[in-house]
Amino acid sequence: MSNIKAAITAVGAFAPEYRLTNAILETMVDTNDEWIISRTGIKERRILKDADKGTSYLAIQAAKDLIKSSNLDPSTIDLVLVATITPDMPVASTSAFVASEIGAVNAFSYDLMAACSGFLFGMSTATSYIESGRYKKVLLIGADKMSSIINYEDRATCIIFGDGAGAVLFESNSEDYGFEDEILLSDGIGRNFLKIDAGGSLLPSSHETVDNKQHYVFQDGKNVFKYAVSKMADVTEQIVKRNNLTNEDIDWLVPHQANKRIIDATARRVDLPEEKVMINIHKYGNTTSATLPLLLKEYETQLKKGDRLVFAAFGGGFTWGSILLTWAYDKQT
Ligand code: COA
Repeated sequence: MSNIKAAITAVGAFAPEYRLTNAILETMVDTNDEWIISRTGIKERRILKDADKGTSYLAIQAAKDLIKSSNLDPSTIDLVLVATITPDMPVASTSAFVASEIGAVNAFSYDLMAACSGFLFGMSTATSYIESGRYKKVLLIGADKMSSIINYEDRATCIIFGDGAGAVLFESNSEDYGFEDEILLSDGIGRNFLKIDAGGSLLPSSHETVDNKQHYVFQDGKNVFKYAVSKMADVTEQIVKRNNLTNEDIDWLVPHQANKRIIDATARRVDLPEEKVMINIHKYGNTTSATLPLLLKEYETQLKKGDRLVFAAFGGGFTWGSILLTWAYDKQT
């Protein structure tokens, strides 16, 4: 291990204005508010309504929020990473456009794809670049326009997902705060249960795939739930034990927001009370790559230098993992 520590030094976020409430969903598919809240914890999600705007728009707004709130000169950024499963286009890198639009003129950039674990895995990538000493400022953005791949006639998926973006800056830290440990895993069995069948190299888009609605997300919710609830709790428990910590040493659980019942099960496994668990699923639903940075933005003023954070995520693939990190700054309000 190098002795350079990589810490989060700034946070930004963006959620589009339009609120798709459970009441509105009741008019679209056979569902109801009580069912959605009791099974998922979600009350509403944000949707980017503008047909001419893609994920880059969300990412740019989140990055601009970070730049403004931290007085960052974007020309000093070395690398822009965008974690997303909904890139603007399948070939042109979304991150390249984002970097140019925010004035990161000296940065290189690329997209990173690990579904709902995209931001978590991106934290591993970003911190590794800083720890190696090769780069000084890495901007990691998690952004997804999930509404672009959701079938609003499918009640198994349309009640869950929303649009959003969040960004964090990683820099070296001289006070020994920052990234501590990670457990990252994957299992290809997941593509049977959570996927988009068409539009990739295995099944290129055609009239037929569109007619069959194979360009939308398919989810076998029961099976995904079964894996997610045990895997997310397992890695969270493992990282806590491996670092000889108890529930009292953990200040915050930062869990991917897929389902309130999965979050509760993870918190229970490491015996953490509700007040130590970051939560905003009721407001945004599952925003895929954006859930973790949206949480950090929302809780930023409550975080104190030295706080111990355990991140946990689970996503399509399957992909999952946990990261232990100490917080590096007190936000002036
Ligand atoms: N509204 C109302 N009823 C619904 C419904 C909806 N949107 N979706 C399903 N139902 C019905 C089912 O038809 C079923 O009825 P039945 O008992 O008469 O057959 C009943 O509700 C239970 O369905 P089930 O699929 O077993 O519900 P569930 O408790 O598994 O909850 C999910 C469904 C999708 C909320 C849950 O499986 C889940 O959260 N899965 C994981 C999702 C996830 O985390 N995805 C992202 C991974 S990063």
